[in-house]
Amino acid sequence: MAGRIREDDVSHVRHASRIDDVVGDYVQLKNAGGGQKKGLCPFHDEKSPSFHVTPSKGFYHCFGCQTGGDVISFVMKIEHMSFTEAVERLADRMNYQLTYDEGQTRTGGSDRKRLLEANRLAALFYQEQLQQAGPAQVGREFLQSRGFDKSAAAKFGVGYAPDEWDALSKHLKSRGFSDGELELAGLTKPGQRGYIDRFRNRLVWPIHEISGDVVGFGARRLSEADTGPKYLNTPETPIYKKSALLYGLEMAKKEIAKKRQVVVVEGYTDVMAAHLSGIETAVATCGTAFGDEHIRILRRLLMDDDAFRGEVIFTFDGDEAGQKAALRAFDDDQKFVSQTFVAVEEQGLDPCELRIKDGDAAVRDLIARRVPLFEFAMKSKLKLFNLTTAEGRVSALKECAPLINKIRDRALRPEYVRSLAGWIGVDIELVREAVGGGARERSIGPSHATEKSSPTYLLEREVLKSIVQFSELALSWQELTPDDFADPELHNLFQVIREKKEGLASLSNLVADAPPELAALITELTVEPMRVTEPTSHFMESLIARLREVSVTRKISELKSSLQRLDPESTDYAPAFAELIGLEALRRSLHEKGLGEALL
Ligand code: CTP
Ligand code: MN
Repeated sequence: MAGRIREDDVSHVRHASRIDDVVGDYVQLKNAGGGQKKGLCPFHDEKSPSFHVTPSKGFYHCFGCQTGGDVISFVMKIEHMSFTEAVERLADRMNYQLTYDEGQTRTGGSDRKRLLEANRLAALFYQEQLQQAGPAQVGREFLQSRGFDKSAAAKFGVGYAPDEWDALSKHLKSRGFSDGELELAGLTKPGQRGYIDRFRNRLVWPIHEISGDVVGFGARRLSEADTGPKYLNTPETPIYKKSALLYGLEMAKKEIAKKRQVVVVEGYTDVMAAHLSGIETAVATCGTAFGDEHIRILRRLLMDDDAFRGEVIFTFDGDEAGQKAALRAFDDDQKFVSQTFVAVEEQGLDPCELRIKDGDAAVRDLIARRVPLFEFAMKSKLKLFNLTTAEGRVSALKECAPLINKIRDRALRPEYVRSLAGWIGVDIELVREAVGGGARERSIGPSHATEKSSPTYLLEREVLKSIVQFSELALSWQELTPDDFADPELHNLFQVIREKKEGLASLSNLVADAPPELAALITELTVEPMRVTEPTSHFMESLIARLREVSVTRKISELKSSLQRLDPESTDYAPAFAELIGLEALRRSLHEKGLGEALL
């Protein structure tokens, strides 16, 4: 096949290709009236469509970036092809046999077509190999172990690369491909003695570009003896550009446009699992991070009447990488962040594992439970704090409030102020204050760090004095726990006393056994007079009840704060709520036994 494409043929291809169909492979087009169609320009970033196509004339034009032309120039521009390649591409598309003028040789013009053909044949070869007896068995077993039956494998064209040096290479060379072509296609690579197949003894997934052509493969290791990476991908080739490829896109593109939703999962098996579970908008990157080029491709499909209104949902296995990605939400230009959602599986399962464990519905459920990226990012940050303590809540508020100021879309901020208050378990007012110009220091909720002169500290100290001096008067002190003492020092002291109850009979022994800093405190408490001159058993019981009341009150307020953060639908909610009711009742009964606030 050499020579120039005949003028007649070029003309035929130009006029017989429907430009709106060809453009439609890349851009979601809407009727714009007057026989025109419009969409988001694939050649520059825009939020509302200024890219127009006039099918009757066979032209396109973008009013935003002034790019325009006919169907051939569109293909040249979008695929970075030469004129000849573009015409060949369009001819292939309509199954039209081109004729070439004789006498002239083409230089590399048909590369693309040859590379596509090699990949197409390779995919068929691998697929056939998966059916063979022998080593391919391992591949079939792997698929089975991931919950995929024969028809699932067929739907995705999964294949098996034989455990030989040059099985594919031989096959394709017998079909007329040269070593150079196979290497250029990424199917082989130079070995010590000639070329060897790139993928050997691996399960292979064909990767299609949006038009449906196979441009490369993802290949999974099957043997422990394989020292290569778990997944190998086709290297960059003239037709395989990983930054612009999304696995599953050719299958998902219609649903993505229809549902205005795309689900980005992490692996090939996850795309399969998602589609088989009914999430037909799932795609994955191919051995690279999700980048700008990917979002550009998706946006064109997600366009609604006049703007990009779809949802981009990322699934993460709940690992750190996902969380880091989410935190970047606040740094980037946030162009599409408000349309970005995150679906995290709490147990750390990916969609494939989730489907195996809990079935198709669980995968659909995971996607349904998506949360906005901002919410996910803030909640990831909140995980670093212990929100059951006042200190934790203060630090969490300090860290997260500034994030709200980083949300570019100001209209969203009040909403997140409200949400953040709920997640942390503090008053909206506090969050509002922290967000609006530097958080003022201020105690939040119940505080464990008691001042030495606070009523709580004095009460705790009084109780300890009474125990040290008159333990025989009130046995109920044994119901106390160290946590009933908010002051750290008194907390530790009580722990020692409880462990060495018998020590109370001989204070000098207790003092001798206690750590030095506590020993001093014990002697101090022993000699310090009680606030009532003649403590009775009744007085002591009331004192202890009062201390327990204060401590229960503290627990109640912590529990209320964590209930505020809990989703009422969650399984943790009911037990926590029941505990709260129980504590409230306990507090009432302690209040009756105690001496009330009048005492201290
Ligand atoms: N990946 C890759 N190179 C690797 C590991 C992973 O390109 N060395 C990509 C692959 O696209 C893979 C995805 O990351 O599909 C997810 O990786 P991982 O979670 O490790 O794979 P799973 O598909 O979950 O694991 P398995 O094959 O065991 O089911
Ligand atoms: Mn995974």
